[in-house]
Amino acid sequence: MANNKQGSGNQAQWSNRFVFIMAAVGSAVGLGNIWKFPYITGENGGGAFVLVYLACIAIIGLPLMMSEIMLGRRGAKSPIGSMAVVAAQEHRHKSWVGVGIIATLAAFLILSFYSVIAGWTMPYIISAVSGDFNDIAAADSGKLFDRLLASPGELLLWHSIFMGLTVWVSAGGVRHGLERAVTKLMPALFVLLIILVGYASTTGHFSEAVRFLFTPDFSALTAEAILIALGHAFFTLSLASGAMMAYGAYLPKQVPIARTAVVIALMDTCVALLAGLAIFPIVFAHGLAPSEGPGLIFVTLPVAFGQMPGGSFFAGLFFVLLLFAAWTSSISMLESLVGYLHEKGISRAKAAIGGGLAAWLVGITTLLSLNLWSDFTPLDSMAGFEGKTLFDLYDYLTANIMMPLVALLIAIFAGWKMAPAHSAAELGGWHRWWLPMIRYISPIAVLVVFFFNLK
Ligand code: PHE
Repeated sequence: MANNKQGSGNQAQWSNRFVFIMAAVGSAVGLGNIWKFPYITGENGGGAFVLVYLACIAIIGLPLMMSEIMLGRRGAKSPIGSMAVVAAQEHRHKSWVGVGIIATLAAFLILSFYSVIAGWTMPYIISAVSGDFNDIAAADSGKLFDRLLASPGELLLWHSIFMGLTVWVSAGGVRHGLERAVTKLMPALFVLLIILVGYASTTGHFSEAVRFLFTPDFSALTAEAILIALGHAFFTLSLASGAMMAYGAYLPKQVPIARTAVVIALMDTCVALLAGLAIFPIVFAHGLAPSEGPGLIFVTLPVAFGQMPGGSFFAGLFFVLLLFAAWTSSISMLESLVGYLHEKGISRAKAAIGGGLAAWLVGITTLLSLNLWSDFTPLDSMAGFEGKTLFDLYDYLTANIMMPLVALLIAIFAGWKMAPAHSAAELGGWHRWWLPMIRYISPIAVLVVFFFNLK
C-alpha cells in the first residue's frame, strides 16, 4: 500500500470496541458537559436551548464525528500524519495536511487553558472535604472563588499538577496509559454522576429541573443562543480539534464507525443532561438562580452543598467527578501532538513531556490574565476585540475561528474530496444518511456560524 510510506511503527490499537468507546466518551465528557453545558443552558433560558443543542449534535456533530473517526482510521496516524496519508490516497493536494496542523494547534491551545480551569477542581475538593462550604453564604462563596482566581501562585500549583497528571497518562502510551486510565475513570465517573442525580432527586425540586431542561420556551431563544449551541456541540464532542481523529487512528478495522459514533454522541449527551439533572434541582432547592454564568458550579453549588445534609461528602464527590472528566479530556487534547512527535521518531514519554511543558507554559499566560495581567488586552485597537484578555483571545481564536475552520474543511474533504466508495466502505449502511449531511448540511451550518461569530 503506497500510503504506508512513512510508517514509523506506531500502529498502536485499542484492545476492543468498548475501550475505544470509553476513550472517546472520556474525551467528549469534560468540563464542557459538567461545567459549561449547565451554565449556558441556565443563561439561555433552558428547554428551547437544549432542543437546539440536541439538534446540532444530531445533524452536524454526528456526521462530523463519523468523518473524523473515519479519516483517523484510514490514515492510522496522528491527525497531521493521517491527513497526509488520506490526501495522498485520494490523489488530493498535499496542502490538506494543513487541516491536521490547525486541528493539532487548536487542541494544544485549548489544552493550555483547559488545564488552568480543570485545576480549580482540586482546591474545591479540598475545601469540600474540609467543611469550608458548611453554611457558607453566597457572598462568601463568591469571595472564595475570587480569591482563588486572584492568586497566581495557587493557580500555578493546580495548573502544574493537572498538566502533570495529563502528561503522566499520555507518556504511558495508548495501551498502558490511555486505555488503563479511561477504563477506570469513566465507569467511576458514571457511578458518581448517578449518585449525585439520585441525591438531587430527593431535594423535592427534581421536577422543576426536568421542566426547566425539557420544556421549550422559544421566546427565550435568541440567534446568539443558536450559535452558542452549535459551537458547544463541536466542543463537547471533541470535534474539529484532532482528538477524535487521533483516537480513530487506533481503532481496529472491524469496528463499525457509524454505530460507534452514535453511541459516543448519545453518551456525551446523556452525561450533559444528567449533569443538568444533578445541578439544577440543588440550585432550585436553595432558591438560587440558574443563570449564574461560569460561576454556577464554583460559586452557586458550594452554597447549595453547604446547606444540605452530607454536603461536604457530595460536594467532594462532585468536584472529583469534574476532575476525572477533565482529565480524560485533556489526555485526548495532547494526543494529536504526541502522536505526531512520536511519528517523527521521538519517544512517547519525551513527546508527552515536551508537548505538556509547552502547553503548561502557554497556560501560564492564561492564568496570569485572570489576575496580574487582567488589564493586558493586546487587541484593544481591533473592533470586536476590545477588552479581551489573553485567555479571552485564546478562547475566541479556538472556538470561533480554528474549530469552525477545521470542521468546514473536514466536511469538504470527507464529503467532496474523498471517493464515496471509500467512505461507503468505512461507514456501511449509514453512508446514505451521512453523505448528504456532510456534503450540504454540515458545511452550510458551519459557514453560518462562522460568519455570525465573526460579525
Ligand atoms: N469535549 C471536551 C469537553 O466537553 C473538550 C474537548 C475539546 C476535548 C476538544 C478534546 C478536544 O470538555
